[in-house]
Amino acid sequence: MITIGIDIGTSAVKLVAVDEKGAVLRTVSRDYPLYMYDNGFSEQAPEDWWEKTADGLLEITKGLGEVAAVSFSGQMHGLVLLDENDNVLRRAILWNDQRTQAQCDYLNNEIGRDVLLANSANIALTGFTAPKILWVKDNEPEIFAKVKKIMLPKDYIAYKLSGVFCTDYSDASGMLLLDVKKQDWSDKMLNIVGVTREQLPKLYHSYEAVGTVTAAAASETGLSTATKIVAGGGDQAVGAVGSGIVSEGMCSVSLGTSGVLFVAADNFAVDTSPAAIHAFCHSTGRYHFMGVTLAAAGSNKWWCEEILQTTDYGVEQKKIDKIGTNPVFFLPYLSGERTPHNDSTARGAFVGMNATTTRADMTQAVLEGVSFSLRDILTRVRDLGANVTTARIIGGGAKSPLWCQMIADILRLKVEKMQSEEGPAFGAAILAMVGAGVYKNVEEACSALIEITETFVPNETAAASYDKRYPIYTSLYTALKDSFREICEV
Ligand code: XUL
Repeated sequence: MITIGIDIGTSAVKLVAVDEKGAVLRTVSRDYPLYMYDNGFSEQAPEDWWEKTADGLLEITKGLGEVAAVSFSGQMHGLVLLDENDNVLRRAILWNDQRTQAQCDYLNNEIGRDVLLANSANIALTGFTAPKILWVKDNEPEIFAKVKKIMLPKDYIAYKLSGVFCTDYSDASGMLLLDVKKQDWSDKMLNIVGVTREQLPKLYHSYEAVGTVTAAAASETGLSTATKIVAGGGDQAVGAVGSGIVSEGMCSVSLGTSGVLFVAADNFAVDTSPAAIHAFCHSTGRYHFMGVTLAAAGSNKWWCEEILQTTDYGVEQKKIDKIGTNPVFFLPYLSGERTPHNDSTARGAFVGMNATTTRADMTQAVLEGVSFSLRDILTRVRDLGANVTTARIIGGGAKSPLWCQMIADILRLKVEKMQSEEGPAFGAAILAMVGAGVYKNVEEACSALIEITETFVPNETAAASYDKRYPIYTSLYTALKDSFREICEV
């Protein structure tokens, strides 16, 4: 039995064909353009996603045999608008687009954070979908007037494949239109934004089949009309499925360009603190919490490639010799910071150098600074009641054993690595298996398919010394935040 997972990413679509034992049979990927302009606008053409996905499916299905089901992982929050004839009305406005500050200020300050938290469980961030809808309403009223369907990136592909206008609870959570606790659209939020239930997709669990492939899509993709289409989810939730982060308290740490700490939860909770930990539905049918540090492996890439002018990260890390004793601190706020500061004016900083500080000490400080910032998120997630003891580590930064050990020491967590490197696309293939009925539920599929290959346990001496350093790290943002704001203004 074969399923295909499709990950609609920001730079490419990645497809993976998997058998019921989790063996990866084939992978295919296709790039598409990203349009970034006007200081913070970030868009993609939904037609490009479809053209490249259909083309990738044609390649992956050739001679593959019957595909039981297809499911999706999608870049979250992107706004896709269709008119009454299902034509795309404008390019999709993406998760990393920054144009909606005025709309976020309106939602957070005039409507009020309390109202948003009570009705959607989250506050407005520039990346989320509702502020984007308000932006279109304010700036492109002629387009807004024609909107018949509002959907998210992966939902456009599900619609093209199946003709079913659907989304799932995990991805819908990032729209700021869903009542996350009740798992239904919030009429209050819909009213605030000025949209109706008819304009929004039907809600499904990530692992539910929504339909089958239409005859037209079958001829464009090589799939058969018997192939089931399974709803799928947002890339963070589906990436977590691909790493087996599905039961209460399980946690993943992602060291990608940005860093994400993700925790699965059985029970709903809302973060009313300024840290605004995201409280979203998970692809399991329950909940998850998530915080994002914006420059994680991105900080290390900047330090090595831009400043040290090297791409050999391993060589730089070999010289590190002050684990737990480095006097140098680094604040990784190169792109401002999301969690816990929600401060777009925060900036990077090195503090604590002396005349004997070495290049290796600075490299070490960068890796430590990112790890401390993930500890900031863990602390807030624990405040919400999550009982976390182990984290599964993913993303490019996880290739460094030194960094994995540092995460174990600084977060005082057992850190595990897995066999599968396909992440969200693999998670989507798992959801497709559940939708096709191979496994009873997502948990059963994950325990059958995910294998731990390496474990890092906290070293008590290093961990104790990092415990002493962490308050210094947190005090530095407090001391510097006004200066950061002034730096942005001059
Ligand atoms: C999640 C988020 C990103 C995007 C793109 O909140 O903004 O993960 O989904 O990957």
